[in-house]
Amino acid sequence: MLSAGKEEVLTDSYGRTVRSLRMSVTDRCNLDCIYCHNEGHIGHNKEMSIDTIVNIVDVASQFGVDRLKFSGGEPLLRKDLEDVLARLPGMKDVSLTTNATLLRNRAFSLKDSGLKRVNISLDTLDPDKYRSITNCKKGTFDKVLDGIHEAVDAGLTPIKINMVLLKDLNDNEIEDMMDFTSSYGGDVILQLIELMDFRELPQYRIDSDEIESSLLDASSEIRVRELHKRKKYIINGAEVEFVRPVDNTEFCANCNRLRVTADGKLKPCLLVSDNLVDVSHASKEELPDLFRLAVSRRVPYCRS
Ligand code: 5AD
Repeated sequence: MLSAGKEEVLTDSYGRTVRSLRMSVTDRCNLDCIYCHNEGHIGHNKEMSIDTIVNIVDVASQFGVDRLKFSGGEPLLRKDLEDVLARLPGMKDVSLTTNATLLRNRAFSLKDSGLKRVNISLDTLDPDKYRSITNCKKGTFDKVLDGIHEAVDAGLTPIKINMVLLKDLNDNEIEDMMDFTSSYGGDVILQLIELMDFRELPQYRIDSDEIESSLLDASSEIRVRELHKRKKYIINGAEVEFVRPVDNTEFCANCNRLRVTADGKLKPCLLVSDNLVDVSHASKEELPDLFRLAVSRRVPYCRS
């Protein structure tokens, strides 16, 4: 157990302190995106109980982890997410990454249960393209737009729109997407994401330097975020971030995140699968040492 009154933080042997937890709560998803990385882990449809989730977050927060993001699969497929949220310790930031197809009827209840904000996956504003990227049923795109409106109304802001850039598929839509996000004022931010090519789709790989320099040219102001030292561009009133996780030493050097898989394993890095620490059956007393073990296994995937 952590001793009372003493602040122990989780710092790895590369000097990186863990400040945030990215927790998958289900592997299930109602979409099937062509490029999905499945959070780097194929589970076996086992899902943590509410108690397990809350214990893990409690112990993490005792170690000074004050940011939590739920992911999936599609986290809203879990109907008990509001119950989970209501039992969490106080944290600086509790957010959710969702495809928003099921958000319309949940935004207010999620907010009421303690969720602060959402990240929404949306790669295109063209319904046909949306169908071909996500393999969804007709009509799903409209549900996503409804979900975004509802999330704004519920105050789950700032909302980030995650747009994975795919060469010759959606890389001509960046401006349209900036117009779309800035139409919500500061409530919606555009987050462009470099494709991590888990599925051997080289035809979709973009030239990130080219994109970055066009953002730089177009921007009136640039800010740098602490997490991964990500840059934020201000362009015609739109806030745009460009996340470049691929072959990026700076990204890894500044990573402050520990992952939890849907089946209850601490995962030190998205890209590494042979160093997981199973906490699915751990008692609350056992958890601190298992956290220390997982953090001792953190190695920057990309380093100079
Ligand atoms: N490359 C980059 N980002 C990805 N995501 C999923 N798969 C990939 C990939 N191969 C991101 C998307 C989505 C979030 C859940 O994970 O941004 O919004």
